[in-house]
Amino acid sequence: MTTERGELTRREALRVAVAVGGSAGLSACLELESGSEGGTTGERTTSPSTDGELPDRQHAWNAVLRTDEYGNPRTPRHHVLLLADYTGEGPVGDDDRSGAADAFRELEAAYEWSADGLLFTVGYSPAYFDRYDASLPDAVDLPPPTALAPFEDPALDTPDLLVHLASDRASAVVEAERALFGETDTANGKAVSESLAGVVERVDRRTGFIGAGLPAEHDDADGVPEGAVPEDAPLFMGFKSGFAGNQATEDSVTITEGPFAGGTTQQLSLIRTELDQWYNQDSRWQRVAKMFSAEHAREDLVEGVGENLGDSSLVTETGVADTVEDDAFEEGVVGHTQKTARARDEDGNPRILRRDFATVDDGRTGVHFLSLQERIADFVRTREAMNGTDVANVGGVGTKNNNGILQYITTVRRGNFLVPPRSDRSFPRPQ
Ligand code: HEM
Repeated sequence: MTTERGELTRREALRVAVAVGGSAGLSACLELESGSEGGTTGERTTSPSTDGELPDRQHAWNAVLRTDEYGNPRTPRHHVLLLADYTGEGPVGDDDRSGAADAFRELEAAYEWSADGLLFTVGYSPAYFDRYDASLPDAVDLPPPTALAPFEDPALDTPDLLVHLASDRASAVVEAERALFGETDTANGKAVSESLAGVVERVDRRTGFIGAGLPAEHDDADGVPEGAVPEDAPLFMGFKSGFAGNQATEDSVTITEGPFAGGTTQQLSLIRTELDQWYNQDSRWQRVAKMFSAEHAREDLVEGVGENLGDSSLVTETGVADTVEDDAFEEGVVGHTQKTARARDEDGNPRILRRDFATVDDGRTGVHFLSLQERIADFVRTREAMNGTDVANVGGVGTKNNNGILQYITTVRRGNFLVPPRSDRSFPRPQ
């Protein structure tokens, strides 16, 4: 989005600067952020930890994330995903392992562990663990990525590692990346000397953002009907997501046994969205029914982007997870939320913790759908529930048509990773 004078708004310029990265991106971020708070608002649940007090779980972010007025944790605004390969053959050598450990520790020492500073995780793929003779312990469920629906054919990501950098400050994610790859000797004004330079090679760099108002500002990306995305939508499809009541807890996605206890698994998909169809073909009633359920649409439960819902999508309260088949027959439409809620565990809790965000990488809208779960099987089960294959061709529901949001999304890439506990995050051995 541009101003009347044809200039980029400040927030759009920050988004572009993160996407550009490098020293030019960093200079632009710092200039744009100077004299501002970087757009950080909201309550913080606890004080950020300082070095030495950090939790052993790399994925323990919620305690230091800001929350909205309903207590929902707010995913940091800016994200960089770095997929990289180890440059050596076979198992990783001890010098490389300890150098990387120092680089990660330096990054932690440079930034506050919070959304104001920097949050990050380092995960490893099944292909990485294939470098070793030993297998992963039974408590770790990390199969290679695969297609998970008859109608998808994603490219499968096999780089060794995935670094996820997140912050409310655009400059932090760009600078942290430069520090990690040995392109700067200071990070947040502090000296850094260790890096992954020479040890790993970046093979892919993906960027994204989330937060009220950001998608609407990027409505000049290919495929977004002008003015269609609501001004206050945090994601492109126009609804708020990630309510506290509809997420797995950090505890429940944590591996509890074996050498990787304290870790989690991470699934990353790149999903392309067809927003033109979503906004032009469908009425508001249909969009609510397809995203939530026909009952949500009929009873007008969702106002605007769903801010009125507070801390839950009301999927439990309405019991719509139990009416999927009936809705297919009677309403001719089933919702994404009601279908995915069928995958909940025996205690009625969602199995995956979603930390997804929007993207306009390559000039196209999409979602970097990143989720954490104890076992990749938890993701697979959730995705199968979302596929709605059981109601395809029931009533007015097709394989994709009127089957939640399937008609508007395409999974183009997928990868699975293990996020070890912090103490073992530098090139872990499988046992
Ligand atoms: C473009 C992609 C997607 C969009 C825009 C989207 C959006 C949403 C929204 C708005 C909700 C309801 C609010 C909430 O509970 O947070 C929701 C719920 C949910 N979504 Fe998605 N979603 C997408 C893809 C996925 C994928 C790929 C999965 C995993 C297979 C998934 C799993 C879930 C789950 C587990 C819930 C909560 C269900 C429950 O309450 O038990 N979503 N999503």
